[in-house]
Amino acid sequence: MTESGVILQGSSRSDGNTSRIVEHLNQRLAFDVIDLAKKNIGHFDYEFRNRGDDFLPTMMLIVENYRTIVFATPVYWYSMSGIMKAFFDRITDLLRTEREVGRKLRGMNMAMISCGSDSNLPERFELPFAESAGYLGMNYLGDVHTWFENDQIPVEVIAELDRFADEMV
Ligand SMILES: Cc1cc2nc3c(=O)[nH]c(=O)nc-3n(C[C@H](O)[C@H](O)[C@H](O)COP(=O)(O)O)c2cc1C
Repeated sequence: MTESGVILQGSSRSDGNTSRIVEHLNQRLAFDVIDLAKKNIGHFDYEFRNRGDDFLPTMMLIVENYRTIVFATPVYWYSMSGIMKAFFDRITDLLRTEREVGRKLRGMNMAMISCGSDSNLPERFELPFAESAGYLGMNYLGDVHTWFENDQIPVEVIAELDRFADEMV
C-alpha cells in the first residue's frame, strides 16, 4: 500500500461542478481520480447477480494502491448522489462475499467533499460517511462543503479547500 490517495468522484456529469472542485483540490493533493459515472456499478443485489461489474475491480485497485479515499459527491436532494449511494451500498458485497478485500479497508483513511448550489449543507450530511468509516474500521479525516457563486469557486471555499488539503497529508 502506498501513502497516496484517491478521489472517488460521484457526480452524474464528469465535467461538472464537483469535477471542478476536485481539479482545484488536486492542484494541492495530486491524488488519482476515479470517475464513478464512467464505471458500470449496479445496485446492491442480495443474490450478487452483478458481481461481474466494475465494483470489485475498482475496490481491489483502491485497497491495493491507496491509503486515503476521498469521496467527492454533489448534493442531490439533500443527500449524496445516487451514483455515490449505489457505490456505498455495494460495500456490503465486501462484508458478505469478498471479505478479504473488505478487511483491507481497515486502517485506511476516509474523507468527503460535498458540492451543492447552497452554501448551507443539510444537517448531518456527513453521517453516512463518518459512520461507515467507523463501521469499516477506517479513520474519518473530515469533510469540506463547497459551492459556486457566479460560476466561480468563492474565496471562502478556496480557504476551506486549503484547510482540507492540509488534513489529507
Ligand atoms: C438532481 C439534483 C438535485 C439537487 N439537489 C440539491 C440540494 O438538495 N441542495 C443543493 O444545495 N443543491 C442541489 N442541487 C444542485 C447541485 O448540488 C449543484 O448544482 C452542484 O454544484 C452540482 O454538481 P455537479 O455539476 O457535479 O452535478 C441539485 C442538483 C441536481 C441535479
